Order: sequence, then C-alpha cells, then structure tokens
Amino acid sequence: MAFDRFGRPIHYLRISLTDHCNLRCLYCMPEDMTFRPNAEMMQDDEILLLTRLFAGLGFDKIRLTGGEPTVRANVVEIVRGIASTPGIRTVTMTTNGVLLSKLAGPLAGSGLKRVNVSMDSLDPAKFKRLTRYGDIEDVWEGILAAEQAGLTPIKLNAVVVRGYNEEDVVSLARLTLEHPWQVRFIEMMPFGGATALQTGQMVRAEEMIGRVEQAFGPLTPVNGGKLDGEARVFHLSNAKGDIGFISSVTAPFCADCTRARLTADGILRMCLLREFEIDLLTPLRKGASLEEMRSLVLEAVWNKPWGHGLAEGEIAVNRVMSEIGG
Ligand code: 5AD
Ligand code: SF4
Repeated sequence: MAFDRFGRPIHYLRISLTDHCNLRCLYCMPEDMTFRPNAEMMQDDEILLLTRLFAGLGFDKIRLTGGEPTVRANVVEIVRGIASTPGIRTVTMTTNGVLLSKLAGPLAGSGLKRVNVSMDSLDPAKFKRLTRYGDIEDVWEGILAAEQAGLTPIKLNAVVVRGYNEEDVVSLARLTLEHPWQVRFIEMMPFGGATALQTGQMVRAEEMIGRVEQAFGPLTPVNGGKLDGEARVFHLSNAKGDIGFISSVTAPFCADCTRARLTADGILRMCLLREFEIDLLTPLRKGASLEEMRSLVLEAVWNKPWGHGLAEGEIAVNRVMSEIGG
C-alpha cells in the first residue's frame, strides 16, 4: 500500500476515460467546451498498463469517470480489462446515465459493480436547464436498467445550484421513501471555466439539510454520523434508501482522503482542487521502465497536497471538472 507524507493510505484511483460528454451541465463546463484530440488521450492498452502499475502499488478500488465515461468507445472492454486486473477489487462508475439503458447490462457483465448517476432535478424542464441538453426520461430509464442489471446500491448525485434546483432537494429526498437508493446532495465546487456561477450560487449542505428536515422532520444519522466515503448519511423514517450530503466546500473530508485521479490524458492529479499534477503518459510513451513509472507514482503519492484551499479563496483553474472527472 502507498502512503502519503501525512500517513494517509492512497489506494483509490479515479480514472477519467474521456473529457467528452453528451451533456453540458452548467456547473461543470462551458457550453462551447472544446475537447482534446484523441491522440493525446490514453489509448485502451495504456489505460490497462497504468491500471496494472497502480494495482501493483496497492491500489484496489477504481472508479471510472469522465467527462462521461460511457461515451468512450470500447467502454465495456475497458471495464472487463480493469476488473480482471489482479489486485483490483471493485470497479465502479460515475455517469450521467444517458446511455445506461443500453449499457448497464453489458457493463455489469464485464465486471462493473455499481454506478453513481447524476440526477439534479425530477422536473424535466429544470433538468434540461441545468444540463443544457439532457432528457430526464433517458436518465430515468438508465437508472432502472442499472438497478435491473444489479449495479446496486444505486447512488444518485445532485449538485445543488441556487436559482436552479435548491427546492428540488425535497422531491429528490422523497425518492428514498420508495427506492433503496442513496440520494446525495453535493455542494458545488469552484473550478476553472464556470467559476462565477460556482462561487456565487453555491448552496451550503446546512441549508440543504434544513430544507429536507422542514419537509420530512428530523433526519436520523446512519453510521453514528461518521463519513461514508465523502458523504454524511441520514435516513428518513420508514425510508428504503438513504440521503447523503457531500460538503466538499464547507466541511472537506481531506483528512480521510484515499484518492488519486488519472485524467484522460494520462496525468496523475493528487487532489481534485489543487493544480499539482504529474504526467505519466509522456514517460510511458517514451519507454520508461516499470521501476521508473513506479517511482513517479510513489513520489506523486508522497507529495499529495493535504487539502484544498477554498476557505482561503484559492481555486484551481488549470482544468475544468470534466477534464478531471469529479
Ligand atoms: N461541483 C461539484 N460537483 C460537480 N460535478 C461536476 N461539476 C461539479 C462542481 N462544480 C459532479 C457531477 C457529477 C460528477 C461527474 O461531478 O454531479 O456527479
Ligand atoms: Fe457531462 Fe457530467 Fe459534466 Fe454534466 S457533470 S457536463 S454530465 S461530465
């Protein structure tokens, strides 16, 4: 297992399969986003090589992200290759769900364990306003297909944006009465790209909790209030599912962070919200030895930044969210 200089075990790798996306969520990317040429991106065999490298250093948990991971050609084969890499215990995916109705079955068949699906509002018009092109019906079918395929427990992610969907936390929370899902509300984080919206229209988790409790009564903490991954989880009485709050901005979980991120162009980023990065693809293509590649990764892990500087007004602007993968 690889440790950073603060003693955190780093064993969770989020791999972005592409910076492309079939939506343009307001909080994620500008409408006229330009994407990188394919040749600069990790090719399928390079993804599998790097996965083996990380697995050999004790990484056991992989989450595939984007952009939108399901728009990558060969995604099912890539999942199969990653899931069958010795040492990798779980492969999961964060997706917008648009293509899941077709892909959930094949992905589950190739070894994917679970999915997190973005669902910011149950109102079709509001959903479209936030995603710029999204049709909520596609996503809904995708969620049901994922459930059918056994990609469970399903988690739904809602980024809450003032003036767009802060009232929708109530109807989204209500889903947990009927479905064994975890609905998670996320504080919007500032990034390069859409920074004015991100800093001006952020809603604090405290306010989200207040809105949910006003509608349903007091929330009961699950797990004695301890973090489940990045979320603080609660339960409504008689509910089948749970409600989580991810307060990345107001109460960061940096002390418990076990993650690293590999961008679609093969760059290792040790903190979502810090610009510190180490290029792995260029040395790989130049023929670096396994030992050289291992020490690059170990050095990056050792130098993982402690946490983000949002409270001090420091914002990482070198990449937008869709290039890092959330
Ligand atoms: N702040 C917080 N979460 C974001 N996501 C995208 N942009 C932001 C942001 N600015 C989340 C989406 C999706 C995942 C890929 O990243 O909700 O679930
Ligand atoms: Fe695409 Fe996800 Fe970004 Fe929305 S949040 S534009 S679905 S990558």
